[in-house]
Amino acid sequence: MIVLGIESSCDETAAAVIEDSTIVRSSVVASQTETHAEYGGVVPEIASRLHEINILPVLKQAIDEAGVELEHIDAIVVGHRPGLVGSLLVGLSAAKALSWSLNKPLIGVDHVHAHLYAPFLDAQDGPTFPALGLVISGGHTSLYRMDSPTKLTRLGATIDDAIGEAFDKAASILDLPYPGGPHIDKLAQDPDANDRLVDFPISRLRKDSLDFSYSGLKTALLYAAKGKPNPPKLPGKPQRIAEPAPELTTDRVRDLAASFQRAAVRALTIKAQRALDTNPDLTSIIIGGGVSANTRVRSEFAKLAQDNDCSLHIPEMKYCVDNAAMIGALGSVMFEAGHCDDLTLAATPTTAC
Ligand code: KG4
Ligand code: ZN
Repeated sequence: MIVLGIESSCDETAAAVIEDSTIVRSSVVASQTETHAEYGGVVPEIASRLHEINILPVLKQAIDEAGVELEHIDAIVVGHRPGLVGSLLVGLSAAKALSWSLNKPLIGVDHVHAHLYAPFLDAQDGPTFPALGLVISGGHTSLYRMDSPTKLTRLGATIDDAIGEAFDKAASILDLPYPGGPHIDKLAQDPDANDRLVDFPISRLRKDSLDFSYSGLKTALLYAAKGKPNPPKLPGKPQRIAEPAPELTTDRVRDLAASFQRAAVRALTIKAQRALDTNPDLTSIIIGGGVSANTRVRSEFAKLAQDNDCSLHIPEMKYCVDNAAMIGALGSVMFEAGHCDDLTLAATPTTAC
């Protein structure tokens, strides 16, 4: 079976041709990162307009590189949730137009769930189930019990910022370019980096909680980098200056980046361990989303998997970030299981679970 996958949920316009749910015949991604970097984050209106410009050339390139004719495609798969609605609509409209004009089935998939299917792409040995799934991206930090690639039960999620968003905000505080995750990662890999310069708070929430919180860590980094704001002035008393931060030298930026990354990743392993303790039948750990490219995430989870006798599955770097191969691949599995949508399929800002 050959499917065409389409992705446009945020700032990547992507199309891919997938054969038999894991073989990537082509995967084309047009990234808008450079345009949004100027604004320090994704500007939704600009994102939709660029998707509109990019969608047809990207689709054409994916079909050409795969060496298939449109008539030979068995189904059209599209990421229709979650994301920026204006962005989702561009990919969804293209998918509907193709489905209608070629008279091929249309399948809508959840982008977050598709991140957890990325480790299957081009892989010899896919994960075994039941598995622990962790999606760590710019918009999501979610932990799942996965009884199969399509049967997911959410165990926990962030109650405030997503981890990728926290990395990006941390980088902005440290005056590093957007998107900040890779820059923080690179600084933290410096052999001289001191990841204990500041003992940042690691959010645990309630004793049995599998949720995440990154806003406290972000504020702690802000104070460590820029100093604590003045306490309120009391009438008749002189204004007290709280704690000015030491000068933000290059070495301090590097050490704050490393300390931030240590705390951010530790929060993930603590919750993953809790989930493994309460779900002792899990046999593998699957991680997806842009932050799964992080060096410390990869090394810490390698240890965690070994300690828990689980296999670890993290996608190849090119499938960690947003792409249409993961969308097409998950859609193939759903289609084989009998799932099919129609032209009323809607663009939805939130994830299914
Ligand atoms: O999955 P993704 O491409 O988009 C969303 O669906 O959100 O993830 C993008 C996020 C950004 O926040 C980026 O800073 C982060 O992934 N990221 C990283 C690394 N590479 C990308 N974060 C930490 N370390 C990295 N090496
Ligand atoms: Zn994503």
